Amino acid sequence: KILILDFGSQVTQLIARRVREAHVYCEVHPCDVSSDWVREFASDGKLKGVILSGSHASAYEESTDKAPDAVFELGVPVLGICYGMQTMALQLGGKVESGHQREFGYAEVRAHGHTALLKDIADFTTPEGHGMLKVWMSHGDKVTVLPEGFKLMASTPSCPIAGMADEARGYYAVQFHPEVTHTVQGRAMLDRFVLDICKTNPDWIMRDHIEEAVKAIREQVGDEEVILGLSGGVDSSVAAALIHRAIGDQLTCVFVDHGLLRLNEGDMVMEMFEGKLHAKVVRVDASELFLGELAGVSDPEQKRKIIGRLFVDVFKAEAEKLKAGDGGHKGATFLAQGTIYPDVIESGGAKSKKAVVIKSHHNVGGLPEQLGLKLLEPLRDLFKDEVRELGVALGLPHDMVYRHPFPGPGLGVRILGEVKKEYADLLRRADAIFIEELRSTIEPNSGKSWYDLTSQAFTVFLPVKSVGVMGDGRTYDYVVALRAVQTSDFMTADWAELPYSLLKRVSGRIINEVRGINRVTYDVSSKPPATIEWE
Ligand code: XMP
Repeated sequence: KILILDFGSQVTQLIARRVREAHVYCEVHPCDVSSDWVREFASDGKLKGVILSGSHASAYEESTDKAPDAVFELGVPVLGICYGMQTMALQLGGKVESGHQREFGYAEVRAHGHTALLKDIADFTTPEGHGMLKVWMSHGDKVTVLPEGFKLMASTPSCPIAGMADEARGYYAVQFHPEVTHTVQGRAMLDRFVLDICKTNPDWIMRDHIEEAVKAIREQVGDEEVILGLSGGVDSSVAAALIHRAIGDQLTCVFVDHGLLRLNEGDMVMEMFEGKLHAKVVRVDASELFLGELAGVSDPEQKRKIIGRLFVDVFKAEAEKLKAGDGGHKGATFLAQGTIYPDVIESGGAKSKKAVVIKSHHNVGGLPEQLGLKLLEPLRDLFKDEVRELGVALGLPHDMVYRHPFPGPGLGVRILGEVKKEYADLLRRADAIFIEELRSTIEPNSGKSWYDLTSQAFTVFLPVKSVGVMGDGRTYDYVVALRAVQTSDFMTADWAELPYSLLKRVSGRIINEVRGINRVTYDVSSKPPATIEWE
């Protein structure tokens, strides 16, 4: 196993992820664990190496954190990254000074000598024959004097000591960030450290993660009971399947159906969790309540607020019942949430004490305190694609796990203006046709379906009528807009260049099969300036 000590960098979990991708088990712990803790952690003889992460602090002067001394007494290789390099230098007798020139972003680093870490790893070679690395740097301070026993491993003109190594002891350090994808060879470097230098066995797989997670959940929960809000989305579904695997009937899922779900979505969620997994699911049909409260409301923000508030009210009422328990049940004490690592980072709640708040997220905080329940978040350390891999390993269907994201307010933000059941019913049928055609149309060059080639695709209901002609008659019916986008982070997005033949088929089917819609348009707006959703 590998120990990652977290000094508070936003990207520490990326280090963990790279180690997992190398199929090696790792754990992330805060940098201020004690030396005794480290010795205890290593006492099973399985610890093969330690990685010291970067820090949130831009300068070492702002931070007094250092690695527990035991790290350098264990006789295992250590890799310092960014701040991790600086603290390694200081703790082993080198010097660090404030940089006058701040390096931030892309940099080209020259690799020196043939250290085991960088041997034969380079992005290009200069005419003089120097191996060069394209990396991502983010630092203000730098190491100015190497500690005893270290040699120079990498440099840039503004950072003469951008990497150092004491190969006899297996200590390596780099000022840049090998864990981010902008460092082109970063993965090769981390693989080199973890596999070759630490001599770990690459035998860790997602199935092992399930076993470890199941064990951890059982330990945390004991014989108590857990409630989980199931939405049918990827994160809550995978969390439910994992927790159910661990504690079976001690878990009760609450599925609030607000009447704004996609076609047959509610039934499919029930069939999967109750039918196939035999999990306990309480389905609350609250569609009349939601539609009633939404009647006459057309302002998008007000609609969102109403849906959000009702959702919490309905869920809380159900949770209170489960908390109170009944005959055979003593009552739930845990609330489980499908919080994943990017949610944790966004709300500044990373395990490290000092991670910076970027924006608060609906998944974190709030409900558990209000309900007086303890929090169970078994996916908190995982990235989205790892959550998906875990879902598949747990036996969830591929289509469910690789689904496009669906907003919490559901069709409520895809029916422009006032929400009515009639509109929702029309939209559900039109949208199902669009998604079915996207799934079944394969793009020949990639061999992938257009569903998989787009990041999010859906239909929007426009409550305006336009004139059409069908058979011998005039129609005066509603309009829908198709929306399909490609994006990597949903912050910016391009509209997808779907083939005309596909659009033609979708339009033909919707107009023929959904009585009440006589016109289909395609949304060709990018984000920004448009958003992905229409409301
Ligand atoms: P926009 O429309 O802001 O959407 O470009 C970006 C992404 O966020 C999703 N979205 C939401 N998700 N609750 C959610 O859970 C919401 O209120 C919400 N609004 C937008 C949207 O579907 C897209 O993936």
